[in-house]
Amino acid sequence: MTSLAFLPRATSKSCPSPIARADFCRAGPARRLLATPSSMDRISIAAPRPHAATVDVPGDKSISHRALLLSAIAHGSSRIANLNLGADVQATADALRSLGVPVEQAAQQTLVITGVSELRDPSATLDCGNSGTTMRLLTGLIAGRVNAVLDGDASLRRRPMERVAAPLRTMGAEVATTQGKPPIRMRRSPSPLRGALFSMDHASAQVKSALLFAGLRAQGDTVVVEPEQTRDHTERMLRAMGAPIVVADREIHIKAGSLRALGDFEVPGDFSAAFFFIAGAAVLVGADVTIRNVGVNPTRIAALDIVRAMGVDVTLLSERSTYGEPVADIRVRGGAVLRGVDVPAALVPNLIDEIPALCALAAFAQGTFSVRSAAELRVKESDRIATTAGLLRSFGVAAEEAADGLIVQGGRTLSAPPSVQTHGDHRIGMSAAILAAGARVPLLIEDAACIATSFPEFERTWRLAFGPHMEW
Ligand code: S3P
Repeated sequence: MTSLAFLPRATSKSCPSPIARADFCRAGPARRLLATPSSMDRISIAAPRPHAATVDVPGDKSISHRALLLSAIAHGSSRIANLNLGADVQATADALRSLGVPVEQAAQQTLVITGVSELRDPSATLDCGNSGTTMRLLTGLIAGRVNAVLDGDASLRRRPMERVAAPLRTMGAEVATTQGKPPIRMRRSPSPLRGALFSMDHASAQVKSALLFAGLRAQGDTVVVEPEQTRDHTERMLRAMGAPIVVADREIHIKAGSLRALGDFEVPGDFSAAFFFIAGAAVLVGADVTIRNVGVNPTRIAALDIVRAMGVDVTLLSERSTYGEPVADIRVRGGAVLRGVDVPAALVPNLIDEIPALCALAAFAQGTFSVRSAAELRVKESDRIATTAGLLRSFGVAAEEAADGLIVQGGRTLSAPPSVQTHGDHRIGMSAAILAAGARVPLLIEDAACIATSFPEFERTWRLAFGPHMEW
């Protein structure tokens, strides 16, 4: 491992500037600066009252990160609307400010970013909060360019980072992890990075994106070969910004090049956020929920194939395309008879974030639902195999952990707990709401502040879709 001893020691919560310091330290990583989430240490979900509803979800988190990061190094200004304002994307915006990138708030969910040709060394640790996407993508973007330390919260400090650091070292970047995990210490390279061929041994859109970002400034070609197709938002955005990128099946070639700004860009709604509402509506007789303006990029929506196979009545309406990303409204009518399915391994990378919600849905399906080849879930914001199985069992569902997945026996009557824990994982908290809806019970979600990492308005949106708020 490269020694980067000259860099300041990272702390888990260092504060970027005296002005930001007060808010940052008081509010904590899940709700600082831009977002105005409701106070969400606990969320109370009322017993559902199914009705027809139309709801909006936040902007896509993956696309929001990419739009900010790539605009930061493009020529000119980009005005990015409908950004996901959860804490994860704010961590990316804050990190860019610390790197000397002008990032201004223009409206509620709109930032204007002016690209810079040189990034500056941050004066303090770049705090990625709970966000693996911030840390991995940023590492690729700044590799070789600056001296910096990247760190995050206790959950992020448990997540593997060599998967991004090791290939960047092959390109000549000085990147050191701490026993494979954050903090990551990076040092400016005296010479340009070198392009390289990477045949990835595991499917990761974050790692792929980090390498493509680094390849944009490397000498020679960078080629990334994916074992399975993962979400391709990075490739689509790079193409839209004029980057020299060629995609041939699962092989992506990029070379050094400049980016034109995105100009006016609107982020589509987040499919992963929408999916909690798809599953919630599916388990409720009488529900008829339309989620507007959702990104339906085919590399993201494999969970739709699965729910259709399970019997859910789901329709895509007004399909259109925005800035190279397909978008649609999604309508779900509840009450269909559901059956369990085996999720094909090849689809797992394209529904990895939907697995806790799919398992919650499976609790209401007849027969067995299984998902395997998903060991990656063990190193998400929580060990999602353990936390999903634990959540289901707390409702009396027969859920079995495998080393690399979950097996759910559906169709039993659920016995709801009075409250559940999120284990600091936003997707576990939101999946609990699906179980409560299907069991037609109220529920208290404890330790719910993490939901604001991706969906600050979750509680209000759930109430709009499924019924009134209940006071506890
Ligand atoms: C993401 C990629 C996926 C996903 C994560 C967001 C991205 O992670 O689980 O929530 O924006 O590229 P991996 O790349 O680790 O599979």
